[in-house]
Amino acid sequence: MPGKITVPALRGRKATRGQGDKLAMVTAYDVTFARLFDSAGVDAMLVGDSLGMVIQGYTSTLAVTLDEVIYHTRAVARGTANAHIIGDMPFMSYQTSLDEGLRNAGRLMKEGGAESVKVEGGKELGELVHRMVRTGIPVMGHVGLLPQRVHAMGGFKVQGRDDEAAESILEDAMVLAEAGCYAVVIEGVPAPLAERITHAIDVPTIGIGAGVGCDGQILVGYDLLGLNNAMKPRFVKHFANFYDDGLVAARAYIDEVRGGVFPGAEHSFGLRPAAPRAEPARTDAPLTASTPAYGPTH
Ligand code: KIV
Repeated sequence: MPGKITVPALRGRKATRGQGDKLAMVTAYDVTFARLFDSAGVDAMLVGDSLGMVIQGYTSTLAVTLDEVIYHTRAVARGTANAHIIGDMPFMSYQTSLDEGLRNAGRLMKEGGAESVKVEGGKELGELVHRMVRTGIPVMGHVGLLPQRVHAMGGFKVQGRDDEAAESILEDAMVLAEAGCYAVVIEGVPAPLAERITHAIDVPTIGIGAGVGCDGQILVGYDLLGLNNAMKPRFVKHFANFYDDGLVAARAYIDEVRGGVFPGAEHSFGLRPAAPRAEPARTDAPLTASTPAYGPTH
């Protein structure tokens, strides 16, 4: 059992400085998936506000509340022995004031069991990140395509394609690293820009839709397993086909139920065999510690 992966351990895995393997991260939203990914050995799990789309069926992440992220983070924490757990700060839980942001990050850690938090944005978050980090809240940044700004960005579109936009995203990442983020997610930018940012900052970059030049990658757990067949953006790879396998399994179940095949004898319980008639028990016999209260049903 490798033991808990800590913020300093993640921070120390800056791949571009030649210090070992790239970081492999996923999103998770419940205990079953957390157990699966933790057993597989991922470095960190993000309880992303993507749960609004993956779990709740919204078309964006905007509706997700802090209480919902806390609820899902608690479930993930219960299923995780080793991976680091990051709680995502949802839209409007940190944008209104420094105090509000600090208080809500604290709730994610105190009530949800998150070991660090993630915020989306750039330069404008420098002061908030600095205050959080000084208070003992480790922060992961998130630059490039910012799903919480889907309307401002005109959709889920690749960012930083022209020079000016690329410079601005590079500055965002530099300000966040300078403010104390221990890692920065780079989402939806051209691969050369992500590589440039990775060389420019001294904390790990975690890519999603940002090419292979980052220090690590993150993928939505449902996408990784091929559970989400609603859409498959270019940057997603299905490493399994759980949706198709699930369809086959569910159809087999329906057939067996309808045909009276399931449940079989091996899934069913019988009556307890009648006990042989015995002398009436003594009513003054003491109950011993080994007297069973319940027994298995045959
Ligand atoms: O909410 C989320 O899942 C994310 C990842 C895609 C990085 O922010």
